[in-house]
Amino acid sequence: MLSLRVYDTARYLIPALRRGFSDAAHSAPVAVTGSSGYIGSFVVAELLSRGYNVHAPVRGSSKKPAKVAHLQNLPGASERLKIFDGGDLTLDGSFDSAFDSAGAVIHTAAEVVLGKSQSIITASVEGTNNVLKSVDKAGINLFVQTSSVAAIQKYNVPENHIFTEADWNDWSSVEKGDAYGVAKTQAEQMVHAHFAADEKRSSIAVNPGVVIGPVFTKAHTKASALFLRECIFGNKVMNFPCTFVDVRDVAIGHVNALEKLKLPEYKGRRFVLVNDEKCMIQGGVELGPVAARLFPGHKFDVRPLYPEPIMKILRPLSQIPLIGGNIMDEYQRVGQSTPVHFSNKAAREELGVDFRSLDTTVKEGIESIVDQGFAKLKK
Ligand SMILES: NC(=O)c1ccc[n+]([C@@H]2O[C@H](COP(=O)([O-])OP(=O)(O)OC[C@H]3O[C@@H](n4cnc5c(N)ncnc54)[C@H](OP(=O)(O)O)[C@@H]3O)[C@@H](O)[C@H]2O)c1
Repeated sequence: MLSLRVYDTARYLIPALRRGFSDAAHSAPVAVTGSSGYIGSFVVAELLSRGYNVHAPVRGSSKKPAKVAHLQNLPGASERLKIFDGGDLTLDGSFDSAFDSAGAVIHTAAEVVLGKSQSIITASVEGTNNVLKSVDKAGINLFVQTSSVAAIQKYNVPENHIFTEADWNDWSSVEKGDAYGVAKTQAEQMVHAHFAADEKRSSIAVNPGVVIGPVFTKAHTKASALFLRECIFGNKVMNFPCTFVDVRDVAIGHVNALEKLKLPEYKGRRFVLVNDEKCMIQGGVELGPVAARLFPGHKFDVRPLYPEPIMKILRPLSQIPLIGGNIMDEYQRVGQSTPVHFSNKAAREELGVDFRSLDTTVKEGIESIVDQGFAKLKK
């Protein structure tokens, strides 16, 4: 199996040498919020590979150097990566030092949790507002935001609807049980509005599906790469309909968006980032058979968190007035049984993202988790 380190060197260093670190080397640093996170780490790696100087605000990084050790080991990091201890979304001014002298911000940080809590929205919206205040103080005009398909998909459209960047999630609410969908929608709309008025300023949102693939750290196997880890362990996973995307393609999408920000026709745009597969109705459970085909002789007995025979009984019960909400919320009732289809045409044709196949993502993702000793394949 290809080790992640060898893989990284090939993936990140060789293209960078080929490009000769040309334009990026002359531009001001790019600050990446959420650099320690799954997507943020791959965005940092992609930026370094293209020759950018990177500012990485990571809260608690002085006390917990393990949060940033993987970033410091990336090719180009010793010369062009600067870590800042700070960048707490809940604090006004916490991003000031990392944004000072930066030319652009890629904002990936967010509380990534599903559920009903209003605090998910507060963290996302107030957090993004704090980031924007620091952006304004530093006089930064260029901004890429990590939004989500959660800001697009909704359940008040026909089942065969193909979601595109023209769709906005106007269905979700805290009461229905999808605070995350509300949080991502509100935060994205706030960013677009913030940059819209001034012609010198520009923002682009990228809207990934469920992100899987290789990992840099054990913590990343507990982010959305969890879907692959649970496949290896044979645990239960969320069987919500979804479309996956490779974390490396998501990173490329972010940096390609950064490089389009100065083109007027890209201002205020959003781009769906999903692979070419159809919606996987059983979500993470469908990764098991894919993994079993790619690693013959090994077991991937992944099981559904919400088994369909039980859901068939619970769904009608959940519609009984007054008590139904205690059984299941509307997001779970509708979302768990409704396919969602997306088009990645704009990302392919206008953002230049050539999405990896699901097979490549699953194979290299599992190899990366196993090679680094985060899980063992079962016979
Ligand atoms: N993963 C997916 O499938 C997926 C799909 C679509 C969109 N997204 C979006 O992609 C972005 C990154 O997600 P991810 O999957 O990379 O999640 P992740 O691995 O959990 O990373 C989240 C990052 O945000 C930071 N963060 C969380 N709360 C924070 C706070 N209060 N202040 C400052 N930083 C905070 C974390 O920092 P610490 O390390 O300090 O906690 C971490 O760096 C999010 O905006 C998410 O909504 C993710």
